[in-house]
Amino acid sequence: MAKKIFSGVQPSGNLHLGNYIGAIKNFVDLQNQEGNQCIYCVVDLHAITLRQDPNILKNNIRETTAAFLASGINPKKSIIFNQSLVPAHAEGSWILGCVARMGWLNRMTQFKEKAGKDKEKASVGLYIYPILMSADILLYDATHVPVGEDQKQHLELSRDIAQKFNSDLNSPDFLKVPEPLIQRNFSRIMSLKDGTKKMSKSDPSDLSRINLTDTKDQIINKIKKAKTDTIPMPSAKEGLKKRPEVENLLGIFSSLSNQNLEKSIDEFSGKNFSDFKAILAEKVAEKISPISKEIVNLLKNKDYIDKVLMEGAEKANIQASKKVKEIKKIIGF
Ligand code: AMP
Ligand code: TRP
Repeated sequence: MAKKIFSGVQPSGNLHLGNYIGAIKNFVDLQNQEGNQCIYCVVDLHAITLRQDPNILKNNIRETTAAFLASGINPKKSIIFNQSLVPAHAEGSWILGCVARMGWLNRMTQFKEKAGKDKEKASVGLYIYPILMSADILLYDATHVPVGEDQKQHLELSRDIAQKFNSDLNSPDFLKVPEPLIQRNFSRIMSLKDGTKKMSKSDPSDLSRINLTDTKDQIINKIKKAKTDTIPMPSAKEGLKKRPEVENLLGIFSSLSNQNLEKSIDEFSGKNFSDFKAILAEKVAEKISPISKEIVNLLKNKDYIDKVLMEGAEKANIQASKKVKEIKKIIGF
């Protein structure tokens, strides 16, 4: 069945292998499936829920766009734009904020993680961010939303908001209830330094992640330094218990080789870590270095990137402003 796809990535710098495997690789696969209509958004309004330096933000918007393009998202097939160029997102977000309940937002675990110990000091934007994310999705009647595991709860909230709007305003099926598309395998890529922590843009250690802008030498060096243990490579899945770092590295290898974990376990069973790491580093470099070279290339031509975003925004605006108009009519404005 043809799908209407919407997804977003924050332009907060340091896009990494977790973003690629958990999200962007899927964006490309979905774009290339016959009949799908895809919209990929650089969610700059989401980024400012945490403080951003204006000049760095501007660069990050272009860099995230370049990463989309370099990974294979094609502006002739998919709509690519940045959120702040389409006013309907902010407008829709206000209206949906009057539908969402405080109790629902209070359950969001990502807010608790990001706000940390002192919730009183978190921005109000950070608290209501899942409402903006709901507007992003619902304004385009998206049927499917590809995201990593960490966004599942936010997606459930958008489903709740859509259903409550439809029932409160007596408009059955008006807002489409979106389905999450979360990869069954390898949906959480972990830090190279601690297999119990997610690979993350905000980890202070650059050695914890492979950035999409890393060179081949950097990639090889980071994999060489990745945490492992002293036991030989496992020969069965049970051998991965309590070995999150080894499981993560085998997961990365499997995902980039498009094969299941069992096959990778067989391939490296009993081998020593240095041999496995050398092969893994080659595999990661083979996938990521062409992307990183293309990002550097694209960033030399800022006008081209800005043009892609502007043209994408024009197309997005037609759809989103039409939906907001309909929403306003239903509400009684
Ligand atoms: P963010 O960088 O938080 O804007 O995330 C962009 C997309 O990448 C979202 O769909 C996330 O779920 C996904 N993502 C972020 N970190 C990881 C990770 N360590 N493993 C898998 N997916 C991730
Ligand atoms: N909140 C998502 C993240 O941090 C990004 C995002 C914003 C998004 N709007 C979205 C993802 C809509 C999917 C659909 O990763």
